[in-house]
Amino acid sequence: VTIREYTPADNDDLFLLMWEEGPDWQSYWAEPGRSQYEAALRGSLAFVAYDGTELCGYVRCRDDDGFGVHILDLLVKPSRRGNALGRALMKAVANHYPGHVVYVHSDVDPYYEKQGFTRAGSIFEVKL
Ligand SMILES: CC(C)(COP(=O)(O)OP(=O)(O)OC[C@H]1O[C@@H](n2cnc3c(N)ncnc32)[C@H](O)[C@@H]1OP(=O)(O)O)[C@@H](O)C(=O)NCCC(=O)NCCS
Repeated sequence: VTIREYTPADNDDLFLLMWEEGPDWQSYWAEPGRSQYEAALRGSLAFVAYDGTELCGYVRCRDDDGFGVHILDLLVKPSRRGNALGRALMKAVANHYPGHVVYVHSDVDPYYEKQGFTRAGSIFEVKL
């Protein structure tokens, strides 16, 4: 499996991977989300993991100009889980930003706890 930087040429594979995740990822793969997410990708740094022509997973992050790099999405294809690909994708982000603090916005706390990561606050949705 090779991990490299995402390019827009990966979009068809990427949206298929998300579509296979079903309703949880629908806000990304179904229009108008898809067009918005393509724009979000252009404004982010993302890495993809390929085994030959098969996309096995990806990670997307944003850099807050020296105040932390935020991993916003991490997805590994179900048939490829449990092989440390999620960890390797996060490592690709950390390697890209040596000396920066990397945060991950979590929907699966037990997974990140198992990785040995330290909790650093939590996220609230602000509705005013
Ligand atoms: C979470 C996810 C990215 C992990 O990818 P992965 O490549 O399987 O992760 P790794 O191989 O690096 O780590 C696997 C380990 O994490 C554990 N793990 C995976 N998902 C877990 C979860 N939801 N809760 C607790 N532990 C979990 C596995 O048991 C495994 O442990 P082991 O090594 O002792 O067997 C993957 O399960 C996924 O894409 N899930 C759906 C999307 C998602 O929830 N993304 C994160 C949202 S922020």
